[in-house]
Amino acid sequence: MNFLKNAWYAAGWPDELNDGKLVGRRFLNEPVVMFRKSDGTVAAMGDRCPHRFAPLHLGRHVGDGVQCGYHGLEFGADGRCMRNPHGGGTLPNASVPTYPLAEKHGVLWIWMGDATKADESLISDSFAFVADEKRAHIKGYLHIEANYMLLVDNLMDLSHGLYLHAGSLSNRDMQDNFELKTRVEGDVISSEREQPNIEPPAIWVPALPPEAARIDYFSYNEWQKPSNVIHPVGCRRVGKPEGVDGGVSSRSAHMFTPETDTSSHYFYSNSRDYGVDSQEADARIRKMLATAFGGEDKPMIEAQQKMVGNVDLMALRPVILPSDKPAVMVRRRLAQLIAEEQRNASSEAA
Ligand code: FES
Ligand SMILES: [Fe+2]
Repeated sequence: MNFLKNAWYAAGWPDELNDGKLVGRRFLNEPVVMFRKSDGTVAAMGDRCPHRFAPLHLGRHVGDGVQCGYHGLEFGADGRCMRNPHGGGTLPNASVPTYPLAEKHGVLWIWMGDATKADESLISDSFAFVADEKRAHIKGYLHIEANYMLLVDNLMDLSHGLYLHAGSLSNRDMQDNFELKTRVEGDVISSEREQPNIEPPAIWVPALPPEAARIDYFSYNEWQKPSNVIHPVGCRRVGKPEGVDGGVSSRSAHMFTPETDTSSHYFYSNSRDYGVDSQEADARIRKMLATAFGGEDKPMIEAQQKMVGNVDLMALRPVILPSDKPAVMVRRRLAQLIAEEQRNASSEAA
């Protein structure tokens, strides 16, 4: 399968690399081990030992590198074999690939393409809220047995919320006048929905003032290449701007990274600026996310993947509804970016 290679993908959370831990994870079909060096910076390299192909993440973190747990070859953060404990210590001509890994806005980001093009300033500052200490954050991870674009589709078309999340995130009022508007700004494609003067969905009621029997609901999803979605959502007091008179909202990052052609890493971070110290709100939101994403989206999307099989969904000529417009635009734009990247790579190679 084709992926956009020259792009930053979410690879994990920075605290996963604390205490000398080695984290092994596959990205874009490549096995990778990640760790933190003694100067605090993070590093990533191929997870397959070139001796007998044991996963390096099952070894030990030594110095600024990794010792294979099987026969003890050691590899530095530059990927080169730097110690051989056998046969007099002659170093074999062996190395593993390395990958740029960045820690920015509370997320680890990996670049699986041409390392000379890996510029950390390309990681959008619109993810800065994920590390904003003035907000409360609920972070999570799901492993999904489905292609990452099925997850992007899921976020870009929240009409599924009316059915799949009928008991959790939506209510009857939302089914009327449901409409998604599409906005395009550069390479950011947004799917926007406003539903004025409706009953608040049950999940928002505990956070709203008791007199807020009706609210103006809003829900936006902004796709950022390659496969991340920022999702501000909430309730405004009727006719009032966001945050006024007890209106509440959250902002989430949904970061989808291909593991293989048919499996994905789903990193999510839900953040809020109301009830920041409320453990009750933490528990309620954590439960809601586990139900909606883990209990409702995940099984449906994994079952959908089985139906689609190992082909591109668009090749099956799906029925297109008006609410599919943002998701289809994202798929088209990403396909263009991948084609451009491949054209440039072949002209650079020529
Ligand atoms: S498999 Fe790694 S040293 Fe043998
Ligand atoms: Fe969903």
